[in-house]
Amino acid sequence: MAYDNAAVARYKDFVIFVDRGAPGDVVKAQITTLRPNYARAKIVEIKTSSSEYRIDAPCKLYKVCGGCQWQHLPYEKQLEQKNLLMKQFTSRLQLKNWVVKPIVGVKDVIASEAKQSRSHRQEQIEIASSQQVAPRNDIWNYRNKVQYPVRTVESTGRLKAGYYEWHSNDLVNIKYCPIGNELFDSVVETVRELAPKYNIVAYDGKTKKGWLRHICVRQALSTGATLLTLVVINEKLSRSQDFVNELINKHPALVGVCFNVNTGTTNVIYGPKTHVIQGKGYIFENIKGINYKISATSFFQVNSIQAEKMLDIVDQLAPLSGDEKILDAYSGVGLITLYLAKKVKKVIGIEEIKQSIEDAEFTAKNNNLSNACFINGKVENKIEDILENEKPDVVILDPPRGGCSKTVLQNLLDSKCNKIIYVSCNPATLVRDLEILCENMNPFEIQSIQPIDMFPHTYHIESVVSLERNKK
Ligand SMILES: C[S@@+](CC[C@H](N)C(=O)[O-])C[C@H]1O[C@@H](n2cnc3c(N)ncnc32)[C@H](O)[C@@H]1O
Repeated sequence: MAYDNAAVARYKDFVIFVDRGAPGDVVKAQITTLRPNYARAKIVEIKTSSSEYRIDAPCKLYKVCGGCQWQHLPYEKQLEQKNLLMKQFTSRLQLKNWVVKPIVGVKDVIASEAKQSRSHRQEQIEIASSQQVAPRNDIWNYRNKVQYPVRTVESTGRLKAGYYEWHSNDLVNIKYCPIGNELFDSVVETVRELAPKYNIVAYDGKTKKGWLRHICVRQALSTGATLLTLVVINEKLSRSQDFVNELINKHPALVGVCFNVNTGTTNVIYGPKTHVIQGKGYIFENIKGINYKISATSFFQVNSIQAEKMLDIVDQLAPLSGDEKILDAYSGVGLITLYLAKKVKKVIGIEEIKQSIEDAEFTAKNNNLSNACFINGKVENKIEDILENEKPDVVILDPPRGGCSKTVLQNLLDSKCNKIIYVSCNPATLVRDLEILCENMNPFEIQSIQPIDMFPHTYHIESVVSLERNKK
């Protein structure tokens, strides 16, 4: 499999990426894009396929929806292919083979997770199973959030909401998403149904007409508390209170309904201002005994179960004595920062979104973690001073898909920091950044690369990497 929705075929040495292909397929395919070094093709007919690698994708929309790309592979084979991809990505680095560990799948239990208090885990399972939330260790229903763009169908006036088709601006109207959950499906459906009654029309960037841009629903796995946020062009909707009352009456699990105002012209989903129309503008998610406050627009890992395992991996890769000072760059609402605050002397988080900083500060206070402090700003602008003045023993990096900027990496190279834990959701930028930190006589050395499957049925791969300064 390629690191997207395609399988890799070869004609002599020429590479052809076959959309939605699977290893072992023999297909008749039509070339859709031809470039000097490669081509893309779509399947016209599957002549034969490997029963080991190709299954019927359970989702009816799978062939058109761009949300999942690998549903036609059994889960174990998805993991196998992710392992192969990680080997390919990291082959550019001068590594000892054993450094890249096999991916931790959804059903894998890792050592420190097994040691966790049974009662806490059992309690979480019981709360969760009494609500409409995802079962644990499920390769389906794992997402704790959906963010659907919307369109109004001109001929009928009906609202469409869902993911885009693969590499397209065409929207798939999703009524049932197997990696989300039933409550998300039904809340979105209620918004669709109520739209004509309240004159809710999708915003059209070209004509600058309409109101609604995205429907976002997020849920805490630990409690079932669910928050609906409509991203809109302004906060004015006539009879908004009636609209929201109808929504909440139909879905009592909704703890709040917010309007987030985004007047921007880019594809950034959220704007800077959120109005809580009813209830609360946040939920709490319990991860490993900490109740994290997560506001409507704050980043949170989309797979709460695997997020717990990610923390276990961080634990394993950075064994801590308790005396350390830790800098968590790109800290979000403090998932890693506050988990580590329980174990060390001091933690400092840097995060550019103010709301996430406020969430993290609230969580620190609420959980009596007085050794945590958070700095609002871009890592690029803040890290040099913190490295210089605070001299952290360990730096956690968990950047968005684009990876770290060169300034951030150069600051780390110039610092006295001896240990880095790099959490990445994109192996391509991860490897690029690791090369900067470790190669051309640069001082860091990779100790271990542990991939973890946060996103079953998609090609995405999360990894946690530990690096140490070579003292030779
Ligand atoms: C992948 S998330 C990780 C968040 C957190 N570590 C977690 O696991 O929940 C990346 C975070 O970095 C923030 N961010 C993105 N670019 C940034 C930058 N240049 N400086 C500071 N924060 C940034 C985003 O808002 C987001 O909260």
